[in-house]
Amino acid sequence: MVDVATAPARSDESTFGRSHGSAEGGTCDALVFFGATGDLAYKKIFPALQSLTRRGRLDVPIVGVAKSGWTREQLVARARDSIVQHSKLDEQAFAKLTANLRYVDGDYGDAATFAHVRKELGPAKRPLHYLAIPPSMFPTVVRQLADSSCARDARVVVEKPFGRDLASARALNRTLHDVFPEEAIFRIDHYLGKEAVQNILYFRFANAFLEPLLNRHYVENVQITMAESFGVKGRGKFYDETGVIRDVIQNHLLQVVSYLAMEAPSSTIPEAIRDEQAKVLRTIRPMSTADMVRGQFRGYRDEPGVAKDSYMATYAALRLHVDSWRWDGVPFFVRAGKSLARTCTEVMVELKNPPQVVFKEAAPAMGNYFRFRLSPDVMIALGARAKVPGEAMVGAPTELCLSEEGEQGHAGRLDAYERLLGDAMNGDPTLFARQDVVEAAWAIVDPVIHGPSPMYDYDPGTWGPAEADRLVRDVGGWNTPA
Ligand code: BG6
Repeated sequence: MVDVATAPARSDESTFGRSHGSAEGGTCDALVFFGATGDLAYKKIFPALQSLTRRGRLDVPIVGVAKSGWTREQLVARARDSIVQHSKLDEQAFAKLTANLRYVDGDYGDAATFAHVRKELGPAKRPLHYLAIPPSMFPTVVRQLADSSCARDARVVVEKPFGRDLASARALNRTLHDVFPEEAIFRIDHYLGKEAVQNILYFRFANAFLEPLLNRHYVENVQITMAESFGVKGRGKFYDETGVIRDVIQNHLLQVVSYLAMEAPSSTIPEAIRDEQAKVLRTIRPMSTADMVRGQFRGYRDEPGVAKDSYMATYAALRLHVDSWRWDGVPFFVRAGKSLARTCTEVMVELKNPPQVVFKEAAPAMGNYFRFRLSPDVMIALGARAKVPGEAMVGAPTELCLSEEGEQGHAGRLDAYERLLGDAMNGDPTLFARQDVVEAAWAIVDPVIHGPSPMYDYDPGTWGPAEADRLVRDVGGWNTPA
């Protein structure tokens, strides 16, 4: 018997995204990020760069590119401010980071900008180009990278949204493939970089007791709730072109669904996991409006950047049908929204009730379940019933917590961007969205993002429109995260 908690890792085991240059082509020897003066760099990229530097994972030329008329000193000041605001400044690591940091100011349409980037790359042979810019700029930048020889043997990181629908996702992909082969393209869905999301996969396939239960024989329904108590936070323009389905459901939440529903990967080589994700997403029936309720919070249309007559959903609840041998007949409910009662992402896998013939109790509202809390705290719990002390054979619900981490998290927990940037530098694609996975996810929501469907208003601070209750009437209602 091997103690899995203490057994040393076999040397041939996949490090699941922690390979050090072991992936095809080796580690990148420079990092270029476009959009260096933008919001994403400010909130996520600079803190990730400092953390990677602090852990000794990043010591290569780092070139920020933008068209802001800035100097390198201004970029350094911005980086410092970004880290102070969104992480914790470590003077030593920051000094090392800034020693590697260069800045190229110029127009993305101008070849001279890219000649300058090439010059700053010096002898680097395998740069990583991170496109932290609007997708509308991708064709220009990708073409310029090719023309300036910056793309040779390089990798490229792109941010979601990967298109607006299936057709545009394919077009975007063609643009990238004109210059980069698929193995050099890293599509960031930061949910995949979250420890709690990876733990769904780990927990499922590292424990023998769970697998026999996760199928149509034992599971009543699965519910995934991504609730955010805040609104669009100044991103009105972006959000009003995007809406909740494109913003978080097509990507983050369908990635979670794929981890929950997929078959065991044949091994942990990167493509085995992504193969299973693609396979299970292809078994999900394309959505129909009968299986969807959309909502918009009251006051959304007054947000800056939002059209006064906007018909964009800030809330959606969906019922998915997974037409596979394992899941046939088990509904997967997914709901997400802005300005809801609290901020919390949770997965609830509810098991079927046992027959009530032994104790003659009324059937409990909810029987056994597995609960995966993904944020803000992280938890895996098993819901069960136990006898209440006394003469009567009656029980009460109880919960066994299998793993728990407070909101601040474990010291070892990597921020999703730090994790993913490190993986891209090392050429490990496991936690990135592969094109066929992206397309399979678009194929599910494509029919409902184009056609008209009713829109229900809801008050901020609630759980969304009451009309969404109709989807879950047969399974006893929504699981409301506590
Ligand atoms: C982003 C969406 O991708 O994910 C945001 O654009 C959303 O609207 C965010 O708030 C949620 O991510 P997290 O990591 O804060 O749960």
